[in-house]
Amino acid sequence: KVVIVDYGSQFTQLIARRVREAGVYSEIHPCIVTAEEVKAMNPSAVILSGGPSSVGDEDAPTLDLGLLELGVPVLGICYGMQLLAHNMGGKLASSETREYGPADFKMTADCPLFADLNREESLRVWMSHGDQVKAVPPCFEIIGSTETLEVAAMACVEKNIYALQYHPEVHHSEGGDTMINNFLFKIAGITPDWTMSGFIDSVIKDCQETVGPEGNVVCGLSGGIDSTVVAVLLNKAIGHRLHCIFVDNGLMRQNEVEEVSSYLREHFDLNLTVVDARERFLSKLEGVEDPEKKRKIIGYEFIDVFDKEAARIENVKFLAQGTLYPDVIESISHKGPSAVIKSHHNVGGLPEDMELELIEPLRELFKDEVRKVAIELGMPDSVVWRHPFPGPGLAIRIIGEITDERLTILRKADKIVQNELTASGWYRKVWQGFAVLLPLKTVGVMGDDRTYENVIALRIVDSVDAMTADWARLPSELLEKISSRIINEVNGVNRVVYDISSKPPSTIEWE
Ligand code: XMP
Repeated sequence: KVVIVDYGSQFTQLIARRVREAGVYSEIHPCIVTAEEVKAMNPSAVILSGGPSSVGDEDAPTLDLGLLELGVPVLGICYGMQLLAHNMGGKLASSETREYGPADFKMTADCPLFADLNREESLRVWMSHGDQVKAVPPCFEIIGSTETLEVAAMACVEKNIYALQYHPEVHHSEGGDTMINNFLFKIAGITPDWTMSGFIDSVIKDCQETVGPEGNVVCGLSGGIDSTVVAVLLNKAIGHRLHCIFVDNGLMRQNEVEEVSSYLREHFDLNLTVVDARERFLSKLEGVEDPEKKRKIIGYEFIDVFDKEAARIENVKFLAQGTLYPDVIESISHKGPSAVIKSHHNVGGLPEDMELELIEPLRELFKDEVRKVAIELGMPDSVVWRHPFPGPGLAIRIIGEITDERLTILRKADKIVQNELTASGWYRKVWQGFAVLLPLKTVGVMGDDRTYENVIALRIVDSVDAMTADWARLPSELLEKISSRIINEVNGVNRVVYDISSKPPSTIEWE
């Protein structure tokens, strides 16, 4: 495994993903980790990440010099390189201006890090730093420069320590992948063995050991990829001792509950209970217009229904959840050792006397790896590439009051959006695409008659993490097709509008 010591760079997770894409397992640890602790992890290599601090700052994170004595190669990136220079006898200077963006990098010496790269050509690389190394430590040599930085890369081959001022993990750094691979394979001599099929085997074994020969596990299914993968993996490990609970809150899309549940039962032989709580949710939501009230009611009812259902199962010892690696690292980085790891209670609120332990089989994985596991498990595209769907479901896509009639209208319109996005190949290209039912009526004309009916808004966005988003530039022919199908096929709708706002300042959902 490769241990990545995190000094707070926004790209640290990207380093971990690049290493894993190369077939090598990597773990991120906050920079307060000690060399002793890292030694106990028995790593094959250590990478020091970038970070926002200046080495000279009063409370800047420091380097545990023991990390350089572990007998494994070390790669310092950006702040990691500055820490190496500072601690090993080099000189740093703070630049007057921050360098942020592309730079032309020239490899000025032969170095195993540059194997397979043509030294004659310069590489366009991505810089993001304030300070710079002015003089390398005694045992180091300069191995690369840019126009503004004499020391853009340095190495001490004898001690197996390498450092780059720019970010090789960023996609638009040319040669970055090659350098990372060279570090892993040519310098550290690692044999790649991190594959999703290997992961599946080891997770199944671990779960069998953790759960033991008796006792049951409960798992809440939502139809989303994370909970589905958790359920299928655990089902492979312990069979029907895994009890999956799908709460039908009456706010799912057309046929979704039936499709998801019959698919999971037939293909994966899941022990699945669908709780029909539609009446209960919809009656509690009657007359409620405020979005936050809707969310609260739905959250509360969910926990109550789930708890009651779980309490009927005997001898339950564990609750399985789809926590992913970014949730795990976000909660520990840069805080003291005493910082509490936030547990993601997607389900939560089980009766206290049940005293359940959590099982989180995906807590080592990034989202793209979960998708690879799903593919490896034989799941279809509709599960692997399903757009995120909010817990409160269609309730927050019906602006204003939720009624059966309005749910029917939205379901039909939304189905058309999903079908047309899929048929045109756009479903995979966008982050999310759905219909929203507005609380107003407008005038239209159909045949010779005046109509006075509902408005559907289309919300189709590009995004990478839902933190920011932009409206998708769909071809106008596709928008036209969606619009005319909705107006022609969905009774009660005579107008379709396209939402052209970005996030921020707008949000992806309308409520
Ligand atoms: P917003 O609307 O905040 O959405 O831009 C960002 C992402 O989060 C999803 N979302 C929710 N998911 N419960 C959820 O489980 C919610 O209450 C909720 N609200 C928004 C939204 O679909 C988008 O992917």
